[in-house]
Amino acid sequence: MIFGRNKDKVNGKSAAPAEAPARQKKVEKRKTFPSLTTGLRSVLYRAPRYEPSGQDAVVIAVCSQKGGVGKTTTSTSIGYELAETHKKRTLIVDLDPQGHVETSLTTIIRPGQRYRSMSKLLRDRHPDISSALVSTDSEYLHLTPGDKQLADASIWLDHHRVRKEFILRDILKPILPYYDYILLDCPPYMGNMMLNGLVAARFCLIPSDMSILSLEGVSDMLNGLEVVKRRVNPELALLGILLTRVDEDNVDLNRLIRGRFEDHAQGYLFDTRIPYDHALSRAQYAGNPVALYESGSAGAKAYRSVVEELVSRVQAALSRQAVAGDARIS
Ligand SMILES: Nc1ncnc2c1ncn2[C@@H]1O[C@H](COP(=O)(O)OP(=O)(O)OP(=O)(O)O)[C@@H](O)[C@H]1O
Ligand SMILES: [Mg+2]
Repeated sequence: MIFGRNKDKVNGKSAAPAEAPARQKKVEKRKTFPSLTTGLRSVLYRAPRYEPSGQDAVVIAVCSQKGGVGKTTTSTSIGYELAETHKKRTLIVDLDPQGHVETSLTTIIRPGQRYRSMSKLLRDRHPDISSALVSTDSEYLHLTPGDKQLADASIWLDHHRVRKEFILRDILKPILPYYDYILLDCPPYMGNMMLNGLVAARFCLIPSDMSILSLEGVSDMLNGLEVVKRRVNPELALLGILLTRVDEDNVDLNRLIRGRFEDHAQGYLFDTRIPYDHALSRAQYAGNPVALYESGSAGAKAYRSVVEELVSRVQAALSRQAVAGDARIS
């Protein structure tokens, strides 16, 4: 969340910290590209690339009950990569009151856009998701920013809404045919927002760092997934566990923790691991996706490789489903 900004406007430029000169040049050059459209509705409904595709978006909840493991870094890095490299129409939905998706992408968000906040949308009697979309310099990437009132909205849901866990799923439904991927960046606790994310999602991706505490977090998350799957969303499947912030020098501990992960969730670990790389925090500080800010960094390369794996995992799961009529990977 950006301090002091107008709540109904995204105007990241004033809040963006200074960037390294070489990167600055690249970002400015991108900003001179002509805008495709004048309004968000026209981006969504009139731009040629946003014709309905006849196929619904693949919705992936990026979640973990442990804080600071790289959920937002993963959502924004993967989202940008899907949009820019793979030309997939991608939407990142921030479900976290911290609003870190917007902070992480400030520099590429087109300034001056008016949008309805997700917290208001959740309370609307007839919510219109297209009023909450924000476009970026990346033609194929949109987001809906998180806002602090999401915490209140979450409590409000407890008291006012029947079937409160289905609200996000209903809100997203009209735009599913307009996107290829929708990534839901969840808060680090199993409250109404994460629950809504898991009910709206087809897949769940769990980032985890290499600590014993995170291992427990993953174990809790897997139990939570199981309950959601059994009771409310039978289609929900685990896409994979992504090891993040890996310090490659810590060889022995890495081996032990990886072994424990394999015991817990064999076959679900992504082959790619995200190394501990300061470029990722520098990029986040500068409000830029790492692929744009330091494209040659180890972190950027790793996320590029994760996206390759993610796309093939999704395709494999969906084609298995098409052949066998089986809605699950697991
Ligand atoms: N691979 C990495 N190497 C170094 N720093 C990283 C890496 N991944 C994330 N970080 C940094 O760690 C911090 C937490 O990352 P991030 O915000 O993505 O975690 P999160 O799981 O979304 O946190 P929260 O639970 O608060 O939502 C940030 O400062 C981010 O820049
Ligand atoms: Mg986060």
